[in-house]
Amino acid sequence: MIIEKIKESKFTPEVFNIKVFGTAFSDHMLLCYFKDGKWGEPIIKPYGKLEFTPALSVAHYGQGIFEGMKAYKGSNEEVYLFRPEENLDRFNKSAVRMDMPPIPDDVFLDGIRTLVDLDRQWVPDAYGMSLYIRPVMFGIEEAISAHSSGEYLFAIVMAVAPNYYNKPLSLKIADKYSRAANGGVGFAKAAGNYGASFYPAHVARKEGYDQVIWTDDATHTLIEEAGTMNVLVRIGDKLLTAPVSERILNGVTRKSILQLAKDSGIEVEVRPITVKEVYDAHVTGDLKEVIGVGTAVVVNNYAAVGYADEKFDLPQLPDDECYGKILKKKLVDLQMGISEDPYGWRQLVEHPIEA
Ligand SMILES: Cc1ncc(COP(=O)(O)O)c(C=O)c1O
Repeated sequence: MIIEKIKESKFTPEVFNIKVFGTAFSDHMLLCYFKDGKWGEPIIKPYGKLEFTPALSVAHYGQGIFEGMKAYKGSNEEVYLFRPEENLDRFNKSAVRMDMPPIPDDVFLDGIRTLVDLDRQWVPDAYGMSLYIRPVMFGIEEAISAHSSGEYLFAIVMAVAPNYYNKPLSLKIADKYSRAANGGVGFAKAAGNYGASFYPAHVARKEGYDQVIWTDDATHTLIEEAGTMNVLVRIGDKLLTAPVSERILNGVTRKSILQLAKDSGIEVEVRPITVKEVYDAHVTGDLKEVIGVGTAVVVNNYAAVGYADEKFDLPQLPDDECYGKILKKKLVDLQMGISEDPYGWRQLVEHPIEA
């Protein structure tokens, strides 16, 4: 790996006060090019612009995938990653589905570790804050005929992540638009999934909601995801979530929260959840929580849900009775090196990493 260090760091402690995600990028980025059927040598260099022409393949045909993960700083300045192999695995599943070349494990994992090590001062040490890591790959062949790109850029950039979604959010259950379909790319972190979700989210915002609960495309009767998160529903004392599928992203947070819930003695059921049972549970008072889980927000208890023409509030449970809050603390404590890590999910970023 080639490393070109920045001459003078852009870091100031004020970057940790930013309010908007993606406005404070760290000093360095990693780039690795795929050409003539093989990956070149990765290079880490100062974060900055690249030059492309408007014939850039991804701009026309959408071969673009990404990942989202975080680096955390514990006490005594130690920096951790959380289950990075899971993101690598998902990235390469996304690559295969989008007919793109898988990234070698070491480019992805050593690349992230080296980059995070170099920019470790950008990892905030405040509880719950982190440095967001964005690996991304896209077709860069200069070509406008419809075919898989012959050239790709794999890049990693990192940005300070402020505390997300502090305000209570409401969700509209989708009854017209869909995020994914059988045989499609819903399980992949393909750029187009997000682009296609922006309009339905915009419509939901105009109707007074913050995000969309995605339902199955065929019948709109099954609860699948919430915004860009997996969704868990608490009915009575049981935590329900839909099984991952072709249409549902296999979230690392979901997987981890389900394990922590089981460890906490919470009854967990992974099965299709119908809109009707959620609505019926609201009517009988058994609907206790609707929870979004994902790397960006970690765990978020929603405040209200909209179904057909009705918008109903969810109960506000005390912190020590709220599964979402209890499980969020368990997960963040583990990620930040505060609690035991029986599963080996947390990975120390060694310093200095030999390149
Ligand atoms: C559509 C979608 N669902 C779920 C998730 C949650 O996945 P993870 O917990 O791996 O971040 C994400 C990404 O964060 C997502 O984009």
